[in-house]
Amino acid sequence: MQDPFTSRPTCIRGRTLPDAAQCAALQDDHERRLAALARFSAAAARVGIGTDPDDDLVLWAEDELSLLQSADELWAELASAATAFRVVTPIIPLDVFGFPPDTEDLVGEGSPRLHLIGSGVEASAFMAEDGSVYKFYMPHEGGRIGGSFSFARGIDVVVEAEASAGTYRDLLEKLLLINAVEGMPTEVIGVSPEGVVIAKQTLGERISEGIDVTPLLPAQLIEIPARFLRAHRDHPRLFFMGGRAWFVADTHEKNLARDREGRVRPIDLLAAPWPHRVSAHEPLVVDWLARAELDPRAPLLRPVADEDL
Ligand SMILES: Nc1ncnc2c1ncn2[C@@H]1O[C@H](COP(=O)(O)OP(=O)(O)OP(=O)(O)O)[C@@H](O)[C@H]1O
Ligand SMILES: [Mg+2]
Repeated sequence: MQDPFTSRPTCIRGRTLPDAAQCAALQDDHERRLAALARFSAAAARVGIGTDPDDDLVLWAEDELSLLQSADELWAELASAATAFRVVTPIIPLDVFGFPPDTEDLVGEGSPRLHLIGSGVEASAFMAEDGSVYKFYMPHEGGRIGGSFSFARGIDVVVEAEASAGTYRDLLEKLLLINAVEGMPTEVIGVSPEGVVIAKQTLGERISEGIDVTPLLPAQLIEIPARFLRAHRDHPRLFFMGGRAWFVADTHEKNLARDREGRVRPIDLLAAPWPHRVSAHEPLVVDWLARAELDPRAPLLRPVADEDL
């Protein structure tokens, strides 16, 4: 399929769910984009270019490096990493989606081809004629975008998690995680010259307000014992992906939607890599993390064999 705005390949259209092979390809696409950004970021750091915030990298113009790339190997690698990242994260002007040129107010000015369906702290979501959802994540001050968590040792809990502004990498990781937890299929379309990240998602139906969503959350999300972590966010969970532990939260009812088969899926979440450096001083947590990776239902305390009692 071709995206009606960008004419690039897409596997998302309206409420129709991509099949298993398409979901796997989607996941691979997110992973390759993150790997390309990691390579680009490492190459930039080697020549002394700052990588946090990472907005300059994400918006890097390819011709910025054409003169320098012949300077030496490090610059050549930087140029090649920049090109590879751009292949998977194209720059797409917002007027492609029908917004007026140079607009800073997507919601206020709107597009004749998109219908606003929701707007939150991070993104504004619109529906296109074919029913697909397009999300525009607006950059904040200081090169930040989207949200993540910062962590500290708590007084009466092991880890205290606080929501914080994110980087582009954090946002791309969030979009990967939505897919990985079998949330609503989500594609990254690209980034606008102003730094707006554009994502596309399968349309879902709102779920009724006020219901307890706990039993509806993806089974791979592991409940975190309250004494281990406090987050002033709903549903703090642990999630393992590719051998890495993630902290995932904020899957409240407005961040869930029902797909056309009736299944409830996250359409949004807030996440960050699990802060091992903060929890490392607490053997109980270290032990539980290791067991939970092997068995998501692992109890808080390791079962004790009768003969040890
Ligand atoms: N795939 C979708 N299907 C149906 N509705 C959607 C979809 N994606 C977003 N919406 C609607 O748009 C709203 C905002 O989307 P989303 O949660 O992704 O943005 P956000 O800025 O991160 O929100 P917040 O900061 O409030 O959590 C959702 O609460 C929902 O009502
Ligand atoms: Mg939301």
